[in-house]
Amino acid sequence: MRPWLVVLLIAGCETNAAPPPGTPPPVSSSAPTSTPAPVRDASVVDAHPSSLAGPQIYQALCAQCHGKDLKGYVADNAPSMISPTFLESATDDFLKASIATGRPGTAMAAYSNKLGGPLDDAAITRLVTYLREQGPKAKELPAVPKGDPAKGEGLYAKASCGSCHGDATIRRDSIHLANTMFLVQATDPFIKHAIVNGRPGTKMAAFGAAMSDAEINDLVAYVRTLGTGAKQAGMLPAPTGKEPLVINPKGKEPTWKLRENRFVSVDEVHKAYKAGAKMIIVDARPPSDWMRAHIRGAVSIPYHDVARLKDIPKDVAVVAYCACPHHLSGIVVDELKKLGHKKPYVLDEGVNDWHRKGYPMVAAEGVERPTEQAPGGDHGGHGHGDHSGHGH
Ligand code: HEC
Ligand code: HEC
Repeated sequence: MRPWLVVLLIAGCETNAAPPPGTPPPVSSSAPTSTPAPVRDASVVDAHPSSLAGPQIYQALCAQCHGKDLKGYVADNAPSMISPTFLESATDDFLKASIATGRPGTAMAAYSNKLGGPLDDAAITRLVTYLREQGPKAKELPAVPKGDPAKGEGLYAKASCGSCHGDATIRRDSIHLANTMFLVQATDPFIKHAIVNGRPGTKMAAFGAAMSDAEINDLVAYVRTLGTGAKQAGMLPAPTGKEPLVINPKGKEPTWKLRENRFVSVDEVHKAYKAGAKMIIVDARPPSDWMRAHIRGAVSIPYHDVARLKDIPKDVAVVAYCACPHHLSGIVVDELKKLGHKKPYVLDEGVNDWHRKGYPMVAAEGVERPTEQAPGGDHGGHGHGDHSGHGH
């Protein structure tokens, strides 16, 4: 068994000054990305994520996007985990299912070990207990009378819900309501509660005063139809850890135009890839995401299990990617730098952009190419936390 390396405090995501009281003390609080660090510094501990307590699992696996303070909006507009109107409407089952299966096609991966993720059921339960402790218990919500989806469609357009939530094909910058797994996980009362009460402290306004009860029921009925036709996608076999690391071992070294000496664009990497350049492409997402679709030839070395990075030859150019599009790949690149690599880069726009452009991917059956993202979509992750606090 190889050791699990869990990075408890991750450089590159330091958007929040200090963890809130009650969070476990980080193992190390000094992790500037540029200073050379010993191969095994104190920020890395041996532990399988499933063996950790709830708060530690959260900081190791979730804080990169949902924030150390659980308020969300660190990467890819991941939502708040502690909004009271969220917690009072989210059942434990909703939370467990959201974490276990994730939201395929978004940056939210499947974390269950049954789907290739790092957590067993007991660990997911500890994580949910921890989330639960941050706010109100789930309330018993009234059933939602059946509304008229056709009227709901008009209201959805009129209230510009789609400008944030997208539609059946496009995810914009907020939770994708058309996501098949969202529609499986969310009940009508959960959806209605969010529309009526909003999520104070986020961009989600409360529509309860502006709309009648019947109109909100129509909206719920329409949201229900958004996923119609979305196929349940299959999965590729789990990575064995023995996939060859180097793409085109006999190829030439790529020469890339870099941004901030750290980021390389999807087009630059593709040009070199097509020309047969020698490189290693690391998929930094949980393996469950690799099992849905990955860049052809990419090896799965998730941000939560970076042990295999030791096997990467130091003289080969490495590109790491994720969907968010910089956070998980940034962790891998920083770890490689600590190991003494000189040429590890972050794929600037992320894997969804590569996929969208039709560049070579290996995808499970039913996984569709992401559609064009609106401006301010998953590229919006560049500005940290810029979407929080716009309460209405
Ligand atoms: C790479 C970024 C990323 C990481 C890491 C991540 N999430 Fe998420 N998460 C998201 C995004 C983005 C969404 C919204 C997806 C969508 O568009 O529907 C989300 C959605 C969720 C939801 C559903 C919330 C709702 O209101 O519907 C829960 C619960 C959740 N995440 C919990 C977690 C937990 C717990 C972890 C750690 C085990 C985690 N996430 C790790 C990005 C992330
Ligand atoms: C300005 C952007 C914006 C608009 C417009 C907007 N929302 Fe939201 N909505 C959000 C954000 C952001 C969240 C998540 C907030 C959080 O908890 O962090 C959200 C959450 C939700 C949720 C809960 C989803 C979940 O899994 O937690 C539902 C349902 C929802 N919105 C429906 C709607 C509907 C229907 C409309 C139109 C009447 C609408 N929203 C308009 C931004 C928006």
